[in-house]
Parts: sequence; C-alpha cells; structure tokens
Amino acid sequence: MKTIQDFQIMKNEKKKISLVTCYDYWSARIIDESDIDAVLVGDSAAMVMHGFETTVNAELEMMCYHIEAVKRGLKNKFLIGDLPFLAHRKNLSYLMESVDRFMKAGAQAVKIEGADGNLEMIEHLVKSGVPVMGHLGLTPQSVHQLGGFKLQGKDELAAKKIFQDSLLLQQAGCFSIVLEMIPAEAAKKITDELEIPTIGIGAGTFTSGQVLVLQDLLGLNKNFNPKFVRKYLDGYDLIQGALNNFNKDVKENKFPQPNESY
Ligand code: KIV
Repeated sequence: MKTIQDFQIMKNEKKKISLVTCYDYWSARIIDESDIDAVLVGDSAAMVMHGFETTVNAELEMMCYHIEAVKRGLKNKFLIGDLPFLAHRKNLSYLMESVDRFMKAGAQAVKIEGADGNLEMIEHLVKSGVPVMGHLGLTPQSVHQLGGFKLQGKDELAAKKIFQDSLLLQQAGCFSIVLEMIPAEAAKKITDELEIPTIGIGAGTFTSGQVLVLQDLLGLNKNFNPKFVRKYLDGYDLIQGALNNFNKDVKENKFPQPNESY
C-alpha cells in the first residue's frame, strides 16, 4: 500500500499519481487489484450514488456508510474520506468527532474543501496525527456561492488567490491538494512552487497526479460529457446491452439452459 510519504516521493521523482473515487464494496474490490495508487470516498457520493443535484446533501452518516463499504473491499490502497458539507465549519468538537468516525470507518486521511477559515482546524488535525488533503479551485460544496460548477481562477487575481491558498494549505500541513477546474497554467504554477503533490481534475496535465470519478471514467453517466472526463469504457451501453440480452433470453426461454439448471 502506498502512503503519504510515497506520494511525496512520487512528486519528487516526477512520477504521476492516480486516484479514483469509490463508494461501494464491489468497485473497491476491483480497484484494489488494479494499478491505481489511491482511493477517494468523495462526497460526490451524494450525486453519483444518491442522485442529489449537489454535494451539499452529503452527510456524516452517508459518508461513513460509504467509507465502511469501500474499506471492506480495499486492502491494498490508501483511502481518503471527503469531509461533508460544513463538517469542518460547525465547531472543533464536531470536526474531531467527524474525523474520528471517518478514521474508525477505515479512512486513512481526510479531504477538506477550501482554505479560508480552515487553516487552524487543518493544523489541529495534522498535529493530531490525521493526514489532510486540501481542495482548491472549484470546491463543489460552495457551488451556490460560485454560481455553478464552473472553471475557477480564470483571471490573474483569482488565480493568485488560489495560488496563495495553496501555499497556506501546505503551511498548515496538508500532504496534498486537489486542484479542480482551474486553467492548466495556474495548476502548473502551483505544482511547480509547492513541495507537496497536487492532484488535478479538470486542471490540465501539469499536476502531480489526476483524479476522476469512477463512474465518469467508466462511461456510466451517458449525458455527462465535460471536456475533462475521458471515458475509458462505454459502460452505460455495455451494461444496458447485457441487461437487454438477459431480458431477451428470459422472454425467449433461452435462459437458463440445462447446463445452467440443477
Ligand atoms: O467528491 C469528489 O469526488 C471529489 C473529487 C472530484 C476530487 O472531491
């Protein structure tokens, strides 16, 4: 299993880091025996697994339930859990309770969106022995403040703010930072200046690694086709084809055959 120290070495040696999201046991088992470096139980679970419009609906119980399921299938990969909406903004004891639940559910690190107002909490967690991953750029929990799931850091001032936040997160002790939906050049500057690895999603090629939502890279979401997603499988049509073949065989009494019967 790779550790946060390995991710740092990978950045130092300019070896790229691969992450995928995962929310359930059977996907975790497949990922566990793949070459992927680490797994994020993202709060995108609220959208991908529960059909909500945004990640604002992810809750502590929901996240712990997914972390536990993933952990049962994941023996060989580093597991990061995404702290849900406001979990780090209520008060320190709620944060510590949430992180305690995450770690006991099987997470080995937590991810926290944003820098403003979070630095002390991040420092406290790191000093308590909890690895923390930062997240800048498009921070989906702030979607209503940002006015949609849009590219961030487009102008010089906005890019500068993300850059300064990345330095603050590194100073607070983050072991890595996700950079979501920012121009490739802005991500390059951050990656070049920071010691810690950056993990990009919609942030171009220069980051230390890349993360994608598992269902996006498997092509399971037919109508979700943003520029930054590469579909490595035509999963939606393949699964639907298999279901329709099963249905056809049942209707035509071709399944089961004698060799599939007792
Ligand atoms: O929740 C999530 O899936 C994420 C990744 C897209 C980085 O935060």
